[in-house]
Amino acid sequence: MKILVLNGPNLNLLGRREPDIYGHQTLDDIMDDLSAHALELGAEIDTFQSNEEGALVNRIQESIDTVDGIIINPAGYTHTSVSLRDALLACGLPCVEVHLSNPYAREDFRQKSLTVGACIGQICGFGGASYRLALQALVEKLR
Ligand code: DQA
Repeated sequence: MKILVLNGPNLNLLGRREPDIYGHQTLDDIMDDLSAHALELGAEIDTFQSNEEGALVNRIQESIDTVDGIIINPAGYTHTSVSLRDALLACGLPCVEVHLSNPYAREDFRQKSLTVGACIGQICGFGGASYRLALQALVEKLR
């Protein structure tokens, strides 16, 4: 079972970016943990981070025939991107949206996700563990 894990803009700065909100783990730390957890679950992850909307859309399109599901933290694009939502719907794969923080407990503009409606569910507010929980849920769904 192969899962694509997509990370959007500014997540490459995790560890030094607003650590009071996003924690001290780097994106590599989180992806390494997730990769080890995936092996335990009998799955394999492929990871991709970009600060560009089009690059994320391209990666989703390229994965259509090569992965079984997608975990995505669209970061700021969560709240703005019709194109990412469309790409997630177009790929036809089960997707789970993830956030480190709980956007619903933050500013008003973060309380609307354009992308979650293209996903089977959303996990937020558990820091790096949000990704692990999303992977568990997605693997269970795919079995
Ligand atoms: C985030 C929440 C978004 O509102 C924000 O723009 C991010 C990170 C999270 O993981 O908590 O960049 O997706």
